[in-house]
Amino acid sequence: MMHLLVTGGAGFIGSNFTHHAILRSGHDVTVLDALTYAGNRESLAGLSEDRLRFVQGDITDTALVDELVRQADAVVHFAAESHNDNSLADPRPFLEANVVGTFVLLEAVRRHDVRFHHVSTDEVYGDLELDGHVRFTEETAYNPSSPYSATKAGSDMLVRAWIRSFGVQATISNCSNNYGPFQHVEKFIPRQITNVLCGIRPKLYGAGTNVRDWIHAEDHSAAVLTVLEKGRIGETYLIGADGERDNKSVVELILTLMGQAADAYDHVLDRPGHDLRYAIDATKLRTELGWEPRFADFEDGLAATIDWYRDHRDWWYPAKAATEAFYAKQGQ
Ligand code: NAD
Ligand code: TYD
Repeated sequence: MMHLLVTGGAGFIGSNFTHHAILRSGHDVTVLDALTYAGNRESLAGLSEDRLRFVQGDITDTALVDELVRQADAVVHFAAESHNDNSLADPRPFLEANVVGTFVLLEAVRRHDVRFHHVSTDEVYGDLELDGHVRFTEETAYNPSSPYSATKAGSDMLVRAWIRSFGVQATISNCSNNYGPFQHVEKFIPRQITNVLCGIRPKLYGAGTNVRDWIHAEDHSAAVLTVLEKGRIGETYLIGADGERDNKSVVELILTLMGQAADAYDHVLDRPGHDLRYAIDATKLRTELGWEPRFADFEDGLAATIDWYRDHRDWWYPAKAATEAFYAKQGQ
């Protein structure tokens, strides 16, 4: 049992991870989260105060981070600005949170010799040919496309440099697109589910042929814990669950599962620089650390996610109008 400092624990994946770490793995957690537009204290509701301490604060706050890292056995770093479309509209917050924030954490774990796990994305590798069979591996060269992925790539490079130069005890994981409960309505899958629930037609960027490799946030959480507990220091592990789907078929599946006509959606303006395809080869994680996804069937996981949004309107509804106003301004 460890005392984990989880940054960004009120966000989508950080909150799923915090539930997992406390309820399934028996760790105690301190969450450090700034509660930006993407953070929601309600995502941690129901977890006992004996096991979870919540601190509202910024990962760029050196003194606060130093004190919390000093008290922890390990840091699991999720906090970030995470949405590509926002990074195209206003990149600066991405530099602050993703690059400066990671730097502040690295300096603190270096001072206190605390184990660090850095949560990152497969988007650091850029994109793949639409029709190819090549997948990302730990050896793929970095080639980020957007301000978001460039700042995540920068944060990964900082972690690698702190491992090599200062002997920081760190691991990195790069995961594919997550879905599941507690995801902000700005993201693709919850946006379309909540559109249908609000009587709005789903919005597909461009032709919808872009491919994403979907993994349930619960499987990502289990994989991060596996790397934290069993991963080799200094190593990178790719996390993915063989869930490749093009966006058009995901929208059609959502509509069908929600009892609507499969073609009841609109094509809207494409995203500038839109990455074509992501796909993960997670052989290293599976063979070296023995991790396997539990949500092997995307359709079942999606149906459960639709049920969750249907049952948790109070959680997502307050963010819906502002999110749609942002997209409407961009023609999306
Ligand atoms: P999210 O936007 O839902 O949550 C981010 C959380 O970080 C929020 O609670 C926010 O309040 C907090 N935060 C932001 N800036 C902060 C700061 N300066 N100080 C403290 N807290 C701050 O993001 P997510 O989708 O849960 O992603 C979490 C991590 O996982 C990110 O590092 C992201 O790059 C990575 N990741 C995400 C995906 C995905 O599909 N969503 C896939 C792979 C990797
Ligand atoms: P998103 O959830 O933003 O994740 P990422 O940009 O990290 O892949 O988008 C997933 C895919 O869905 C991406 O190809 C863009 C597309 N998309 C739409 O077609 N419509 C939408 O309304 C949104 C938000 C995304």
